[in-house]
Amino acid sequence: MKTDHILHGDAATELAKLPAAAAQAIIADPPYFNVLENEAWDTQWKTAADYLAWCDAWVRESMRVLRDDGLAFIFGQLGKREHTFLHLMSRLTQQHQFHDLIIWDRAVGYDERRDSFTPQYEMVLVMRKGEKAKFNKDAVRIPYDAKTIEIYLKDNRYKDKEARKAHLEAGKFATNILRVPSLKGNSREKCGHPSQKPLQLIEKLVLCSTGEGDLVLDPFLGSGTTAVAAKKLKRRWLGIEKDPNYIQIAEKRLENPSEPELAL
Ligand SMILES: C[S@@+](CC[C@H](N)C(=O)[O-])C[C@H]1O[C@@H](n2cnc3c(N)ncnc32)[C@H](O)[C@@H]1O
Repeated sequence: MKTDHILHGDAATELAKLPAAAAQAIIADPPYFNVLENEAWDTQWKTAADYLAWCDAWVRESMRVLRDDGLAFIFGQLGKREHTFLHLMSRLTQQHQFHDLIIWDRAVGYDERRDSFTPQYEMVLVMRKGEKAKFNKDAVRIPYDAKTIEIYLKDNRYKDKEARKAHLEAGKFATNILRVPSLKGNSREKCGHPSQKPLQLIEKLVLCSTGEGDLVLDPFLGSGTTAVAAKKLKRRWLGIEKDPNYIQIAEKRLENPSEPELAL
């Protein structure tokens, strides 16, 4: 199977042409359904029921293409008052094996609601195919700063200082709340897609779920964030995208990837 390229077409149709058990990880950031009201790709279904039935089809194909020890990450958000993702999660977790629910903490709020808290997160539903999923917790540790290490080393409860130092220098385990700032309009990374995800966030998903040479598949590639992350981390990748303009953006970006924004 040819990898490291973008397939132009509908996700479910293109996924159906791929061999079973080929991808180690699937990172899917599908249309949300009527959250981005000005984007034709997000308003293409008449009813939520139509949208959910469409999701059933592409997720079923994705799970077929996933390896038995692979993980599938599916992005979703509640929008202003829309909440179709809650129905989608309920439905998908009845059809497939639930693995985790990640909160992507965007670090800043994104809506001016007056009658409730300002929304600040999106969700990533994680599903596995089999009982044992490949997951590298060490690859996504968060480093302690030098000052914190210095303070922690003064804790006299730990007698073996060298072992304690090595432990601290490895960094702490990341929680399932991933805090990565969303991209601002003027961000260096932004390249013309209204729903572009931060490279740093996608890199964490790639790092925890795959090793070098593994295949990462993104059925809704958009501006190519997953492909850029996979290429940088020496994974093979495959993307599907319906809009030729976004394919052009992604291909240009792959030729000349910018550095990711700094984390908060
Ligand atoms: C939420 S965006 C993905 C953004 C991407 N994660 C990024 O960082 O740029 C969803 C993408 O799905 C594409 N899309 C919509 N319907 C599709 C379909 N049926 N098959 C494949 N792609 C589709 C849209 O054109 C849009 O680029």
